[in-house]
Amino acid sequence: MTSKSIDHSGLTFRRDYFGDLTAWQALVDLLKDTFDIDIGPLQQMGGPDPSSMPFGWFAADGQLAANLSAFAMPLMVNGRTVNAAAFQSGAVRPAWRGRGLYRDLTQKALAWCEEKGFEAIVLYTDKPALYEPYGFHALPMHAYSGPAPAPAASGRPARTLDPSRPADLSVLQAALKRRMPVSETLAVVESTAMFLINTRLDPSVRLSFIEDRQTVIAWKADGDRFMLLDVVAQQIAALAEIIGSLGLRPAMAEVLFCPDRLGWEGETRAPGGGTCFMFRASDEIALEAPAMLSPMADF
Ligand SMILES: CC(C)(COP(=O)(O)OP(=O)(O)OC[C@H]1O[C@@H](n2cnc3c(N)ncnc32)[C@H](O)[C@@H]1OP(=O)(O)O)[C@@H](O)C(=O)NCCC(=O)NCCS
Repeated sequence: MTSKSIDHSGLTFRRDYFGDLTAWQALVDLLKDTFDIDIGPLQQMGGPDPSSMPFGWFAADGQLAANLSAFAMPLMVNGRTVNAAAFQSGAVRPAWRGRGLYRDLTQKALAWCEEKGFEAIVLYTDKPALYEPYGFHALPMHAYSGPAPAPAASGRPARTLDPSRPADLSVLQAALKRRMPVSETLAVVESTAMFLINTRLDPSVRLSFIEDRQTVIAWKADGDRFMLLDVVAQQIAALAEIIGSLGLRPAMAEVLFCPDRLGWEGETRAPGGGTCFMFRASDEIALEAPAMLSPMADF
């Protein structure tokens, strides 16, 4: 693969450029133009993940022509912490496509992961064929749904958290710092920056804080269906207690991660959407139970 050519005429390669806010803005623009997502607010929410290592080809006018970023994303997999990296923000502007720039950035990011000794690399994509030549395999994801448990009696009711308010942002950041993985089977260990920006990218996610449990719940409700996206806590409460604290009485529950810590079971189903979660590791990996990464960890 390394023998294939690359045409980077007129472009300058930079890595680790997030300290330069003009270059950061060029990435914000690239992702807005390519995927119609705005990661700009991340700067007001504690900034990008501190382990981020972006690789980019910049044009003379400061535009970012091509980018791929890597960052450390330790994962709980089958009860063991895996020192994983994640790839994100992979895009090439149309005028510069087909010149080998993305192949070059993929190779640079893989070399960085090798150098840092990561055990595994994960990514989301709608183009798995782009990554299969590098040893990435699709890992099927599963959500759970079924009748909701009866709400368990709770202490004080949960209150709404609004991360655009500085005091609530601090509560959320502190909870994210000391969280335990939401599942033994598959979950992020921390991944604060992704959780925070995902609260902006999907404004329909509701955040509630159960004070006496120091627990943040990320959830949605649709009629009599309760959807649980994530639980941020040192000790994960049972689903019945979560529903009780929120003052809800839904008929159906849907959990968008493996509910092994929730004291509840449901039927598995493949989540919708065309994106594929890919995993690359020296050892084959098979999940011990159907699972998915919480949408709050989307990257
Ligand atoms: C996909 C994308 C990153 C490719 O960038 P690019 O610079 O044109 O890619 P390159 O010229 O470096 O080609 C790299 C390889 O990918 C292949 N490739 C390019 N576009 C592809 C696509 N849409 N699907 C599958 N493979 C593709 C090329 O054939 C090439 O294969 P090779 O290494 O065996 O020769 C670019 O088209 C893009 O930004 N698309 C929109 C955003 C996106 O899809 N991002 C990546 C998904 S997470």
